[in-house]
Amino acid sequence: MKYPKEYLEEIKTRLKVSTVVSKTVNLKKRGKEYVGLSPFKTEKTPSFTVNDEKEFYHCFSTAEHGNIFDFVMKTQNLKFGEAVKLLANLAGMRPYTFSKEDEIREKKWNSYKAIFNRYVDHYHNELLKNSNSSGAKDYLKKRGLTKVEVQKFKIGFETNDLSFQENIFSEYNESEIKDTGLFYFDENKKKYVSRFRDRVIFPIKNISGDPIALGGRTLKDSKYFAKYINSPETPFFKKGSNLFNLDFARKLSSNLNNIFLVEGYMDVIGLSKNKIDNVVANLGTSLTTRQILTLNQFFDEIVICFDGDESGYKAALRAAENSIVELKPEKKISFLFLPNNHDPDSFVNERGKEFFLEFSKSNSVSIHKFIFNHYFKNMDDSPSSRAIFEKRLRSIASTIKDEFIRKYVLEYFLEKISEFTPNINLKYNKNYSKSFKSLKSTQNFYNETKSFKAIDIKEFSFLYILLKKPKLIKDNFNLIENVKLFSNENKLLLSEILSQSRNFEITNIENINVDQNLIDRVLKYASIKHIMIKYLNDDEKILEILSELIRDLKNYELEIRIEELESRFSKDLSEATFNELKQLKKLQKIN
Ligand code: UTP
Ligand code: MN
Repeated sequence: MKYPKEYLEEIKTRLKVSTVVSKTVNLKKRGKEYVGLSPFKTEKTPSFTVNDEKEFYHCFSTAEHGNIFDFVMKTQNLKFGEAVKLLANLAGMRPYTFSKEDEIREKKWNSYKAIFNRYVDHYHNELLKNSNSSGAKDYLKKRGLTKVEVQKFKIGFETNDLSFQENIFSEYNESEIKDTGLFYFDENKKKYVSRFRDRVIFPIKNISGDPIALGGRTLKDSKYFAKYINSPETPFFKKGSNLFNLDFARKLSSNLNNIFLVEGYMDVIGLSKNKIDNVVANLGTSLTTRQILTLNQFFDEIVICFDGDESGYKAALRAAENSIVELKPEKKISFLFLPNNHDPDSFVNERGKEFFLEFSKSNSVSIHKFIFNHYFKNMDDSPSSRAIFEKRLRSIASTIKDEFIRKYVLEYFLEKISEFTPNINLKYNKNYSKSFKSLKSTQNFYNETKSFKAIDIKEFSFLYILLKKPKLIKDNFNLIENVKLFSNENKLLLSEILSQSRNFEITNIENINVDQNLIDRVLKYASIKHIMIKYLNDDEKILEILSELIRDLKNYELEIRIEELESRFSKDLSEATFNELKQLKKLQKIN
């Protein structure tokens, strides 16, 4: 049994080699390629490369070489069919089952594609050559389009000439033609009528570049005609799955890591005319999570740039709430709002490419900020309005699938809320004392000493042991000499103890050269003292307690750093920050 070539091609189109390989190999970008340690051999220096443009991987140390199918077959020991199944699933495609239905579908698809190709070619030529199209030509010229754009997007115009329709009906059967959605049955006239007659045609292609649907713009400025009509859903065109210009824009993903998502055909074309080609449009329907996932297969950042009017803003908000669900740690979604009722087409034509890109860089806001700002603007200071506000934000955060993103987006929301509610949400108050895991036996005492932070008490306990067991410390100097403390007073005390211990046989509290108050504090508040009474002569036990304290202090240092990074990550959502975080969390686990 053979998979249709098209099916395999679509899998390859949808999955970059680096996407597949990076599931199992840690890859680093180097120029246009990626490098990593070979999965075929144990090695210390990377000799394994991946090239997305050429669609292959190559291992210089073993001469292994191939495409995504080869890769999963070899690294996971799969048969070709199993590799196809696995990758189709990863690409979000339906499985191919070799059933009768698949065969029928295959046949239908071939007719569908043939009819569409002929339609698009025919009416593109009509626009370029037929004198009946002069009205359409003038219109496009008036809108600033040249032959370059008309050809690049294969724009057409459906003239009144019936010969095309007659030819198609003589060559294909009714159900094949009906499937395309190009014609509909007019009950009054009792015949098939072309849906797009008298309209400028914008072909919508699938990811592999085959036209599968159309958008048609009327030339008339009348409220009796819809400005645009689009193909209905067909067996091969699903509105929430396709994006206008994706087939072309995706090819730019090896050089660019962001994609603009706009509302209309003319926005894509206007930007393209100004040499910005990493653009797709979602065509008047609301943005779906499928579309987000598709764009994320190719691009790390999606910049959503809808029209600068009220309906554009509303569409953006809906898009934000739908797409935040799919936000992933290594991906970014941001929003760009254009001034003065501009849409991307009018804005780029007025200001040009450089200005547009600069403007986009400095004015796009990340998705979680946009959502926060929107609801913030719409809140007054009444308790009920605030309650609705917080509930809404919490509920949006809870829809996020990725647990890390969910956590940090919620953290961002709550932190912002705590800025205007300083007396509640204490946990998110800037000066909150860190909650810190303390030894079980010390927990009760900790409750009595709330004026200190938990970490202070830990430090007291640590110092307490040093003060009380000088001989033990002298013998285990290596254990304590690198411990870092946080409070400056405790630091001072520690360095005195260490220098004493270094220079004398045994440390003597009387000789420690610091303010007596510092020592008294330790003696009084060290929670460990209650336990120490029990184990005063059990050096082994005390060393065990000491090691536990030291480990906690080290973790605390990590925790502070992690907290810093978490707060940074909630703002920039950058991959670098996230990776650093991941590393630190790993360390924390090891400790
Ligand atoms: P716009 O009205 O902003 O389109 O709708 P546009 O591209 O800016 O229009 P012109 O040609 O420059 O005036 C944005 C998109 O919404 C869909 C179309 O996909 C359009 O490109 N739409 C709009 C419809 O499907 N039907 C409509 O009646 C209007
Ligand atoms: Mn518009």
